Amino acid sequence: MLINLWYVAEWSDAVKDKPVKVKLLGQNFVLFRDRQGKVSCLSDVCLHRGGSLSGGRTVRDCVACPYHGWQFNGDGKVEFIPSEGEDFQIPDRARVDAYPTEERYGMIWVFLGDAPEEERIPIPEFPEYDDTENWRALHDNWEWKAEAARVVENGIDIAHASFVHPMFGYEETAQENHIKKVEYHDYWARSWNEQYPPELTGGFLNWRKLIRSDRQPTETIPTWYMSGMVVRIQINLNAKMSLIMFDANTPVDEHNTRTFAVQLRSFVKHPLFDAGSRKRLQKIFREDQTILEAAAPNYLPETLANELSVKDDRFMSSFRRARRTLIEEKGYQIDSAKVKAVEGRKSYAIPSPFRRERSDLRWVMDAVPLVAPLTEKIKIVDQAELS
Ligand code: FES
Ligand SMILES: [Fe+2]
Repeated sequence: MLINLWYVAEWSDAVKDKPVKVKLLGQNFVLFRDRQGKVSCLSDVCLHRGGSLSGGRTVRDCVACPYHGWQFNGDGKVEFIPSEGEDFQIPDRARVDAYPTEERYGMIWVFLGDAPEEERIPIPEFPEYDDTENWRALHDNWEWKAEAARVVENGIDIAHASFVHPMFGYEETAQENHIKKVEYHDYWARSWNEQYPPELTGGFLNWRKLIRSDRQPTETIPTWYMSGMVVRIQINLNAKMSLIMFDANTPVDEHNTRTFAVQLRSFVKHPLFDAGSRKRLQKIFREDQTILEAAAPNYLPETLANELSVKDDRFMSSFRRARRTLIEEKGYQIDSAKVKAVEGRKSYAIPSPFRRERSDLRWVMDAVPLVAPLTEKIKIVDQAELS
């Protein structure tokens, strides 16, 4: 699991006047809205005696801990300690980590990390979401017992459709499908693929006849974004009928992923058709889930050497490579083994931008341990060899 990325924490309409608890990257957070409607995200662990802030209530623009009522503002700073009264001088270090938030596409995005603004990989663009004239949107959730990186790989893997999704993949023509083009950017990439349906034989394929002329290819355009672990797939069935799936895959912990899914369709836009669309979307999720939850190991292998890739996997590999850059060069990976070793006995916080700015504050909670970037590891080995 990686820090210093934007993740989707919750749907916007799920956070109203009460604090909401969410779990991301194996840690708990509280989301709450102030009187202006601005949503805040804080570490959920109260620095007084470990109360769970999300179990409290919203008081003015603060969240009040349910244990002794300390009030934390949107910056994570304690504003009021009831037992000490109004005149009490609250120490500067009485604060929990607070994280940048943004609301986009009906979702609450939180930046979980301490990187300064200019270093943050931006939230993916999704311009079609606001174009309600041409697209009908549908929101859905899915939960996986699998690591988020595995879920992302599954989403951008076109070859599996021929075997896992009979609704739009065709085993008979798997060999004819091909990647037409791949475009690489900083921490996102897109590919263009053509898939050919088999000859239209057999009555059960009749619905396909309605949407395509014989053997007309389907254009599939998958995109991965490191930010939000987003998978976007655009499927152009023909010139007038397109689908876009925009899935933000949030790592709840190492073994669980929550997908915030938006599906847009450019045809049969009447709400009456939502139920059918949702059913088809969920069927696809279920088919992927069966494969993914049975795959081993649960995590993406540490090195590419432990799985064999072929030419058709090159788009997927671009995601693995970018992820490894963040792990090996930037040192963004949480050291889950260290966290697990003290589970239940020690709480950690994901470091926030203000923690980096004010490292002099002697923060009450320790920052989550990270796996050292490769260069540092090599340095340590070198020093060991020297001594
Ligand atoms: S534990 Fe939160 S106020 Fe005491
Ligand atoms: Fe799939």
